Amino acid sequence: MPGPNSQALLERRRQAVPRGVFNTTPIFTARSQGALIEDVDGNVYIDFAGGIGCVNVGYSHPAVVAAAGAQTQKFFHTCFHVTQHEPYVVLAERMNALAPGNYPKKTFFANSGAEAVENAVKLARVFTGRPGIICFVDAFHGRTLLAMSLTSKVAPYKEGFGPFAPETYRIPYPYCYRCPYGATLPDCGIRCADAMIDFFKRYVEADKVAAVIIEPILGEGGFVVPPPEFFPRMQRICREHGILIIADEVQCGCGRTGEMFASPSLGLEPDITISAKSIANGLPLSAITGRTEVMDAAKEGGIGGTFGGNPVACAAALAVLDALEGGMLERGRRIGQVVRARFAIFKDKYNIVGDARGVGPMAALELVEDRQSKKPAKHAAGAFTRFCYEHGLITITAGTYGNVIRTLMPLAIADDELEEGLAIMEAGLKAC
Ligand SMILES: Cc1ncc(COP(=O)(O)O)c(C=O)c1O
Repeated sequence: MPGPNSQALLERRRQAVPRGVFNTTPIFTARSQGALIEDVDGNVYIDFAGGIGCVNVGYSHPAVVAAAGAQTQKFFHTCFHVTQHEPYVVLAERMNALAPGNYPKKTFFANSGAEAVENAVKLARVFTGRPGIICFVDAFHGRTLLAMSLTSKVAPYKEGFGPFAPETYRIPYPYCYRCPYGATLPDCGIRCADAMIDFFKRYVEADKVAAVIIEPILGEGGFVVPPPEFFPRMQRICREHGILIIADEVQCGCGRTGEMFASPSLGLEPDITISAKSIANGLPLSAITGRTEVMDAAKEGGIGGTFGGNPVACAAALAVLDALEGGMLERGRRIGQVVRARFAIFKDKYNIVGDARGVGPMAALELVEDRQSKKPAKHAAGAFTRFCYEHGLITITAGTYGNVIRTLMPLAIADDELEEGLAIMEAGLKAC
């Protein structure tokens, strides 16, 4: 591996596609089903990456394929701004009912996570009349100018791409394994939740801040889960100062944690929630759902776009939500129990595993050179993913140092595939 057909395509790809578009494996997909990918040479892989978390209900889920197919027979595109269509409105109603927050909501649609981030910020600014946005260390919000400015990791996401968008401010994320204050739970008093109080004195006035944007669980940053006290306290400070909270649930939403959204179980009630990735099982769609008064703050024509809320993507998304509510969330919780229990054993058995963490099937292993220094084991993580790939399992890393292994397997994965994948992971940990 890669076989001759992938190699031939790889050569053409090198000539035709810029190097900046990264690849984690050298293979080309021929077809995919459930949690399996077959490449153009007939090799079959178990997939723990799910197109970076975009196929939570499984590749080629039959109901999603049928719904999207049926919509293509009617029409592909009208542009919602020109002639409207029902799937857009039905999906908005569903998202309003499902998204976190016990208040009236509205939803509109865009095409990608980054575009949803941009729009959430626009709405927060126009609603509050304030410019500032607070974001977090190790956050990832996308690659467009504002989203990239809110993203933390410099290389490769920001290197050479400045100048960045103004009025963005960054504070530490509650990363307990590597506490930015050098403290430990529970003696730390969760001082990270109060970081903004000091920040308002030193860096920006509170009443110039429109919103805080936060991933309830860090995605690209390494699947870091804040302690339970964090969100209620952070939220109280935001409310005191009239600052909105934007929850970026692009990676942790749509069933990834075994719940539709991650915010509620972490004690967070955001004012705006953004969804993308798995919402339409891989078709480009993102949703911005928020308080009615915030969503209505933009004047007519102020938000939208040519392709946003494409009818095929909306039809697929409705089938995704049906699948999640029709048993896939429950399946996700079961997968989470299996994976997390096994990761706890890996942590006991292998010194290279410094931390095992996550929520439900959104699970991660942080690899370290030794448990004392916690030096990130980036090379070992690279060797591990290569070992897994060579043994038929696709895995991807995360974390600012690239030393975290994360699981984003489709929740449609069969028990024996899950077992086989975990066995390959264990062999990989032994080998590297
Ligand atoms: C939390 C989060 N927000 C935003 C994005 C950007 O999404 P997209 O790549 O669809 O623009 C990502 C992508 O990985 C993400 O994980």
